[in-house]
Amino acid sequence: MPTNILLGKFILLCDLLWGDNAKGSVALRLAKFLKKNGLTVKWAIKPNGGGNSGHSYRNDQGIFCKSHNMPLAVFDPDITAIIGAGTVVDLEKLQIEMNTLAEQGVAVERTRIDCRAQIILPIYKTVEQALEELKGKQSIGTTANAIGPTYAMQAFRFGPTFNDLLDTRKRAEQKVKMAYELANAFLNGCNLPEEEFDLDLILERAEGLSSHVCNTLELFEQIRKDGEIGIIEPGQGLLLDRIFGTYPFVTSSLTTPGGLLGHAGLSLQDIAFTLGIAKFYTTRVGSGPFPGEDLDLFGKQIRKNGDEYGVTTKRPRRCGPIDYVLLRHALRMARPDIIAFTKLDALDDLEEIPVVHDWDLDGMITEFPPADTQRWYDCKTRTDSMPGWQQATGQCETMGDLPKNAQEYIRRIKEDWFELKLYGTQIGMVTVGEKLDQMIVLDALRKKLGL
Ligand code: IMP
Repeated sequence: MPTNILLGKFILLCDLLWGDNAKGSVALRLAKFLKKNGLTVKWAIKPNGGGNSGHSYRNDQGIFCKSHNMPLAVFDPDITAIIGAGTVVDLEKLQIEMNTLAEQGVAVERTRIDCRAQIILPIYKTVEQALEELKGKQSIGTTANAIGPTYAMQAFRFGPTFNDLLDTRKRAEQKVKMAYELANAFLNGCNLPEEEFDLDLILERAEGLSSHVCNTLELFEQIRKDGEIGIIEPGQGLLLDRIFGTYPFVTSSLTTPGGLLGHAGLSLQDIAFTLGIAKFYTTRVGSGPFPGEDLDLFGKQIRKNGDEYGVTTKRPRRCGPIDYVLLRHALRMARPDIIAFTKLDALDDLEEIPVVHDWDLDGMITEFPPADTQRWYDCKTRTDSMPGWQQATGQCETMGDLPKNAQEYIRRIKEDWFELKLYGTQIGMVTVGEKLDQMIVLDALRKKLGL
């Protein structure tokens, strides 16, 4: 009997830039496309981060659907969410989100949460606020979900996990107490009042989620044996990686493909292929260097056309043109097999489309960003522009359907972004509208999907 190459494997999604490139919607699009071709995606794992992620899409009924702690792919009725071992969980927020999703008809009762996931304790939020204040002008502009302090507590080996909270009360109390002692020592140092914890409330919240808590390594074993298909739907993007991102203006988890697998507890052997995701332009939320940021007309127009406002923080996203320097950097780090480019339609009404081809650092032209991200502030982008197409692309189903100038824009990306050829990465998907079917699927992706 012929078998598909995806069976028993996960497709690894990886945002190539600063996040917000529509990973969640790509996960849903992939699942829907596979379903049409007779294959069911059963699992979506969120490997890293927590409520700092914001994923959204508009469903076929025009309803705006969103998720933070949960992968967006759970809006597909065949998909069950896995909150991975490398995530950080705000017990209250996750429960509220699951309740809201349940009201929207999502089968959240099937959700699995790894017992090793770190618990975000209430005091960590005060710590994060104090840290941001300490940094003053250098503050990161975090999403205020205490992601950093929680990963820090894990690195200190002070942070409690579900394992700790769901064992004896004595063990839970000891672990929470230790975490509060350390966090309070920090607050004391900042001349802030100490905080107390309400163990009953913390345990009640943990208990509320306990039926979902499991050892995901056993679950993965079952998925492999049963030949089921999964998608890894991470939070954030490569440029927010704690090591290789625009440090220190980064998140606290690892967002490179290797890092994501480490967070998930999956191995290279579990991956069918890596699908990199970028928009046809660049956005970033929060502070930190962004050489291609366009504060003028293009930036404003693209923010409006692409509705570029944070799902988690509602902050307007900083916008700029597509940037080959960032994309080359991303390709070196992530080496995706396939790339999905999203939101072509946001460029539809533009007369001219700028493209950043390299950066100028003190008179030196550079095709790759400096390793010291502080130097990014000194870089000036060098830009070309291309004529727009000023025509709607939302109905296009093949590359041939696209207006000539849009085809030319994509062709130029393939030609000019030379790393694509070097690494054999191919463009496999172009999205042209918010509906899940509004996309062009190219042969390179079909092949990777075994279709
Ligand atoms: P944190 O992850 O809340 O600690 O925030 C650290 C930085 O990452 C801030 O600049 C945030 O704006 C950014 N960030 C965190 N999560 C996301 C995301 O899902 N999309 C885009 N930016 C994010």
